[in-house]
Amino acid sequence: MVEDALTQSTFPPTEDFAAQANAQADLYSQASEDRLEFWAEQARRLDWDTPFTETLDWSGAPVARWFADGTLNACDNAVDRHVREGRGDRVAFHFEGEPGDTRTVTYADMQREVSKAANGLESLGITKGDRVAIYLPQIPEAVVAMLACARVGAVHSVVFGGFSAESLRQRIDDARAKLVITADGGNRRGAHLALKPLVDAALAPSDANPTPAGSVEHVLTVKRTGQDTAWEEGRDVWWHDVVDPASEQHQPVMVEAEHPLFILYTSGTTGKPKGLFHTTGGYLTGASYSHRVVFDIKPETDVYWCSADVGWITGHSYIVYGPMINGATQVLYEGVPNAPHEGRWWEIIEKYKVTIFYTAPTAIRTFMKWGEAIPAKFDLSSLRLLGSVGEPINPAAWLWYRRVIGSDRCPIVDTWWQTETGSIMMSPLPGVTETKPGSTQVPLPGVSIEVVDDEGQPVGVEEGGYLVASEPWPSMLRGIWGDPERYQETYWDRFPGKYFAGDGAKRDADGDIWLLGRVDDVMNVSGHRLSTTEIENALVSHPWVAEAAVVGAADETTGQAVVAFVVVKSDGAGAVASGHEVAVALREQVRKEIGALAKPRTILVVSEVPKTRSGKIMRRLLRDVAEHRHVGDVTTLADSSVMDAISQGLESGK
Ligand code: WTA
Repeated sequence: MVEDALTQSTFPPTEDFAAQANAQADLYSQASEDRLEFWAEQARRLDWDTPFTETLDWSGAPVARWFADGTLNACDNAVDRHVREGRGDRVAFHFEGEPGDTRTVTYADMQREVSKAANGLESLGITKGDRVAIYLPQIPEAVVAMLACARVGAVHSVVFGGFSAESLRQRIDDARAKLVITADGGNRRGAHLALKPLVDAALAPSDANPTPAGSVEHVLTVKRTGQDTAWEEGRDVWWHDVVDPASEQHQPVMVEAEHPLFILYTSGTTGKPKGLFHTTGGYLTGASYSHRVVFDIKPETDVYWCSADVGWITGHSYIVYGPMINGATQVLYEGVPNAPHEGRWWEIIEKYKVTIFYTAPTAIRTFMKWGEAIPAKFDLSSLRLLGSVGEPINPAAWLWYRRVIGSDRCPIVDTWWQTETGSIMMSPLPGVTETKPGSTQVPLPGVSIEVVDDEGQPVGVEEGGYLVASEPWPSMLRGIWGDPERYQETYWDRFPGKYFAGDGAKRDADGDIWLLGRVDDVMNVSGHRLSTTEIENALVSHPWVAEAAVVGAADETTGQAVVAFVVVKSDGAGAVASGHEVAVALREQVRKEIGALAKPRTILVVSEVPKTRSGKIMRRLLRDVAEHRHVGDVTTLADSSVMDAISQGLESGK
């Protein structure tokens, strides 16, 4: 009820903001008059080596070809172009390491760094089309490594540092990566977090993978923490030996617009992560256009900070490609928000006079919990625009963000998009849209979004439905690496001709869109996408476990939390272990198999998991239990007494 009352307020743009905004209301009409020409115009803002003459080729749907007869280079657009046009002295990154070390990197510095790295990659035999896995902390070398791959036409596959050796191996094998770029370690809450040993483990034979990773020829290692590192002569090379002495001159390799730029793995409804891939021209168009209009970037004066990790799509599109193509000055921070104190982020905003700040609801809710006295200690008056991404933002968190961080002055852009969409699809436009807490509101000019029912028909006001994109857009994924059928099935079979996002949504009486969460077996924990099946697979790979069912239960801070119901084998050592011992062992199992980010919050030992007569786990009922609700309709269960047993077991504290 309180939240209902909160959602009634809206916030019109101030006249001052509107007058200076990059986006004006006529952007919508321009886009709708001639959608393709509108996109072509956005694409022409990039530097093309061969200009394109063709905008969209949809004849091979659902694989789009945008600007296909043009050629360009992503790194040239993100770096060299600025130097060429006299902006070399502008700061690209204010880097802040967690221990407090800092580096200032200008666009001219960047050009030298990426050129050396590109020469280094080529000296290791990397050429156009090769895949390179990147497993680095959030340090400037991560950005340099990505751009150096793009510069030589190689395809990067960044794996977030929180993933386990097992997950890294899976991604290396799937893409057949020839090179892994990593670091000895990174800094986390004052400790050194090892990375290189995980790469070593990933590449070595193991129970799950009896052979060494066959595709990898070299491991290029950045020295970050200085911790001791095992070394395999011939395979392992130091960044400072290969990149630092390399020439500062490098000619970017021009590629066709549809040349793959990167692969990024994301969780789907099955156990196997999907290697989504994006190509060059369309992706860069979407990332730079959306960054310009949604974040209102004024590259000469703004200091922009996106708190995401480059290991996620948000880091790809809104740290590396979008902002750098727009010539922005950014903050790049290595660490966590509470090291060494809970005001670290606000201290960084004060220090660098950040003007535009982009973060996730889970972080905002954490700050709410820590209390507003903490941000109040810092001068946040430089801020002029705030953004949110990754999960629905509840109105209370939205309003707190606006009042406490934005002094009731900064517009908030709640941006909806996905790894698949490559760039922001829905968001208010600052200076144009009257913002509404909790709603992502309207598609960006050029983007076509609908909310449809089971039959693919538009739903009525306040009716729940499925979110779809009804027209192709430049930064859309081009497929799942090596698996075109899965691409077709996952996104295009549900509503023929329309892209199925996997999210539920509704439209209100004003036509604004509200996201209602995933409609598939994907969870969203702290803005990270996790697959229920993948975690179940990790759990059942433990010798104690006979069966496992995982659900995402509502959680005040993380949005959703992983709750696992497990059946322990009656003839194994697990049968005599306490519930606590089982939970400890299985959390560790998930950490080892997937990574710490997927560890269940709660593990409940049960005698059976509820299933339909056809053997499908009834997650809906388990979610009721996990969220302490009255258990819903059980009539489709094969054995309706199962839920009674689970509920009773929980009450008796088993
Ligand atoms: C969810 C992150 C509500 C959604 C960029 C989507 C959101 C998934 C929002 C994609 C938002 C992202 N409001 N939900 N503003 N932004 N989501 O691929 O469920 O990590 O499908 O991309 O996050 O997550 P992904």
